[in-house]
Amino acid sequence: MKIALLPGDGIGPEILRQAVRILDALRSDGLKIETEEAPVGGAAYDIAGDPLPAATLALAKSADAVLFGAVGGPQYDALPRDKRPEKAILGLRKECDFFANLRPATVFPELADASTLKPEVVSGLDIMFVRELTGDIYFGQPRGITGARGERVGFNTMHYTEAQITRILHVGFRTARQRGKRLCSVDKMNVLETTQLWRDIAEEIAPGYPDVELTHILVDNCAMQLVRNPRQFDVLVTGNMFGDILSDEASMLTGSIGMLPSASLDANGKGLYEPIHGSAPDIAGKGVANPLAQILSMGMMFRYTFGLPDVAARIEGAVRKALASGLRTADIAAGGTRPCTTAEMGSAVLKAL
Ligand code: IPM
Ligand code: MG
Repeated sequence: MKIALLPGDGIGPEILRQAVRILDALRSDGLKIETEEAPVGGAAYDIAGDPLPAATLALAKSADAVLFGAVGGPQYDALPRDKRPEKAILGLRKECDFFANLRPATVFPELADASTLKPEVVSGLDIMFVRELTGDIYFGQPRGITGARGERVGFNTMHYTEAQITRILHVGFRTARQRGKRLCSVDKMNVLETTQLWRDIAEEIAPGYPDVELTHILVDNCAMQLVRNPRQFDVLVTGNMFGDILSDEASMLTGSIGMLPSASLDANGKGLYEPIHGSAPDIAGKGVANPLAQILSMGMMFRYTFGLPDVAARIEGAVRKALASGLRTADIAAGGTRPCTTAEMGSAVLKAL
């Protein structure tokens, strides 16, 4: 198992370090794991003038899986767009064709009161987002800002091909089949043609999955239903932009964005694994970030890329045990309790493992 480690910026390196401690333990346990690290994002820009240097991309392509921290920071926001850290993650998704983004939103029983929503609304929540990652308004052409000051125009293009829609919907159906057998497809067909096509194709594919119940929801209604009654959902399949927004919203149902892992898979199960949170520059370097989303992302890697669900379950079990011991990083700590550090949480997971 060759794993590329891309720590990135902000809290990325600190949380990835905790995941690597667990990898090391699994290696001494007999798993054949090889790792190689490379700079990415702002860190790579600082060294090489490019957020996604050719050597980093080559490593990502040659590895079986990529474990990714986070990228971005305010010091890079004024750079030309193709030099910004975000270009690295968007470039990796596109270049490696990591089109299927799985973002589970589950509430750990230990954290049911960490959510800003009432525990009775979120307890037992278990949603899986299947978000498309390589198309949509993120990549559509033309795009840009033109015109003279006073008359400037900004424009982007929402664009989806039938092939792109079809393959992500199949991932949605297959994912639902392995879970609660309910697939809800998110669109904005009352306004946008792109998503009319999305809905049409979903209907065309559905007969191939007679065991899965397909429903449709408009994205605005979906945003509302997610806070009104989130447990009504099993699997949600979305385009790139809607999935970006809705998965951040869903993360808050679980108590902390610091808890949510993700997998971005290509057609062969190779994947990039990253927490859904960002680089959190405000707390970077302080040793207080929550490493659990990163550790759980590594768990997903063993499940989806390496076909080792028992190792994944072991990692997830260790995380739950660490939480059950009462340890909380600042983002999930109840008022009045002393938050633990990033390393303390990592140690607790390691011990439980
Ligand atoms: C995410 C992030 C990225 C996205 C950014 C960093 C480009 O918000 O993974 O959700 O918009 O996809
Ligand atoms: Mg996002």
